[in-house]
Amino acid sequence: MQIEDSYQKIFIDNRKWVEQKKKENPDFFHHLAHVQNPDYLYIGCSDSRVHANEIMGLEPGEVFVHRNIANMVVNNDLNILSVINYAVEHLNVKYIIICGHYNCGGIKAAMEPRDLGILNPWLRNIRDVYRLHEQELDVITDDNKRYNRLVEINVYEQCLNVIKTAEVQKSYLEKGYPRVAGWVYDLNEGVLIDLKIDFKKELNRIRKIYDLTKGE
Ligand code: CO
Repeated sequence: MQIEDSYQKIFIDNRKWVEQKKKENPDFFHHLAHVQNPDYLYIGCSDSRVHANEIMGLEPGEVFVHRNIANMVVNNDLNILSVINYAVEHLNVKYIIICGHYNCGGIKAAMEPRDLGILNPWLRNIRDVYRLHEQELDVITDDNKRYNRLVEINVYEQCLNVIKTAEVQKSYLEKGYPRVAGWVYDLNEGVLIDLKIDFKKELNRIRKIYDLTKGE
């Protein structure tokens, strides 16, 4: 199919989808237009093969989504910090999920030391994760296994970055949510894997150095 045709097809398919949704539930759009009450904030990779709602089996309105290259939570990125702030303080999400995926191009690029122009500062954050866990990673001789392990370790480090925020620390201690979870999506099998990060343990550990619950 020519790109012009497939572009036009998007609108044709959209109208079909609207009809289908209305057939299932005549109030579907009316209801959604007035309420947003998701329990989950999903932070994932921009990769076109990893679609939050689809892999989680959730409908529109059920998950607040942020995606960027390699699902990063960068300390001075106003975009992600605003998303976390809004999700915690206004949407009152119960879980913040960092979802990485195997075969991640961003992680792969970070593992190959070369100049990638404007991508350098972004990939630097992943290279810093590698350096932090250099000892564990360097003993893995199989390139693919080391690559997969960095995907998992990066999810873990981004979970810690979420736990370092004042919003998450204060909200959890006051209200008991949100909890932070780390997942990896296996592209080859379509399976979601829970890395089972011990949120309470990590929160306590993080607060030793990054406690932001006092003051103001
Ligand atoms: Co990716």
